[in-house]
Amino acid sequence: MEKISIYIHIPFCERKCNYCAFVSYCLNEEKQNEYIKKLIEEISNFKINKIVQTIYIGGGTPSLLSENNIRKIFDALRKNFLIDKDAEITIEVNPNSVTEEKLKLYKDIGINRISIGVQSLNNKTLREIGRLHDKKAAIKSIKLARKYFTNISADLILGLQHEKNVVKYAKKLISLGVKHISCYMLEVHENTKLFSLIQERRYFPLQDEEVVKSYQNLVKFLKRKKFIQYEISNFAICGYESKHNINYWTFGDYKGFGASSHSYIDGYRIENASKLEEYYSGKQIKEKKNSKTEIEERIMLGLRCKYGVSIKKLSELGYDIMENPYFKDYVEKKIIYLNDDIAYLDSKYYSVSDYIIEHLI
Ligand SMILES: C[S@@+](CC[C@H](N)C(=O)[O-])C[C@H]1O[C@@H](n2cnc3c(N)ncnc32)[C@H](O)[C@@H]1O
Ligand code: SF4
Repeated sequence: MEKISIYIHIPFCERKCNYCAFVSYCLNEEKQNEYIKKLIEEISNFKINKIVQTIYIGGGTPSLLSENNIRKIFDALRKNFLIDKDAEITIEVNPNSVTEEKLKLYKDIGINRISIGVQSLNNKTLREIGRLHDKKAAIKSIKLARKYFTNISADLILGLQHEKNVVKYAKKLISLGVKHISCYMLEVHENTKLFSLIQERRYFPLQDEEVVKSYQNLVKFLKRKKFIQYEISNFAICGYESKHNINYWTFGDYKGFGASSHSYIDGYRIENASKLEEYYSGKQIKEKKNSKTEIEERIMLGLRCKYGVSIKKLSELGYDIMENPYFKDYVEKKIIYLNDDIAYLDSKYYSVSDYIIEHLI
């Protein structure tokens, strides 16, 4: 039977972080319940004959879900889908809203991977970016999660003001038993508070060279700690790589439920509306993935992770990358290497991958 991954978007947060442009709103209990009702309708109305390999409950802040609502979501999923007994099932949690009771419940309903939004372990930094937790709460949440789960991931952000060295945070996370670290480069989006603060010269993110240096130090440190860099921003102890993410990067099918979620099934892309009222009315954009977009996505995703990009697949889509002079040059210089049909970017060059990829698409 063919495989599929499921993503569920929970678009509520207690407060919007200064840097965040993800779709999330501050919703009261009544509005949250209304959303979950619509979400469950969407899940129940969807039929497909594929076996579920991974489920990812992301947000927003899924750890704000009430016990009743999370149970309802899992009841709907189990009723509607055939879920592999070894499926990877992840929930994203924020340190300030996850509790021991919730963690017990997650375990009870079959969740087996926890992703914690730590971002930094410096109280001043956490305050500056508008987080509701402090260092103590982050550490407490990891210790609590460790009581019930072994597969724990933590998110860090690189490039924040005054944060030239995130190695110390990674070190602490590893000492607490974290098996997977996602370290994202700070992105500054328009319409965020951070964007305005930077415009007003009240916030100073790190300069590019400092970010690259900090990233390279982190990569070196995590390598020593036996963390495999399996994607530009993702590191894991062997066996703890996120199957859900790997499915995205290798172009597996996935179905997204909830406002702003994306699906990719049998060559079709579907995007749900982000505004709640539009999502409730069923508004979606559906399109057959065109070959130009697919070529670009395959190169971008494939060269930023250790799974590479298939030259044969690109050629089937109409792009003979072997004829690209830059590509030939990168291969000659061993920046890109080939193994059978797959082209890989040497991970040493991940920090300049944008520049390299630009030449190839
Ligand atoms: C979808 S968010 C939700 C996670 C969870 N609500 C939390 O904040 O802890 C997933 C991760 O994306 C990262 N992220 C969000 N906005 C970002 C930005 N503008 N730049 C870099 N990383 C960002 C953060 O590390 C965050 O933990
Ligand atoms: S980073 Fe997480 S908690 Fe903060 S606003 Fe975005 S989704 Fe919400």
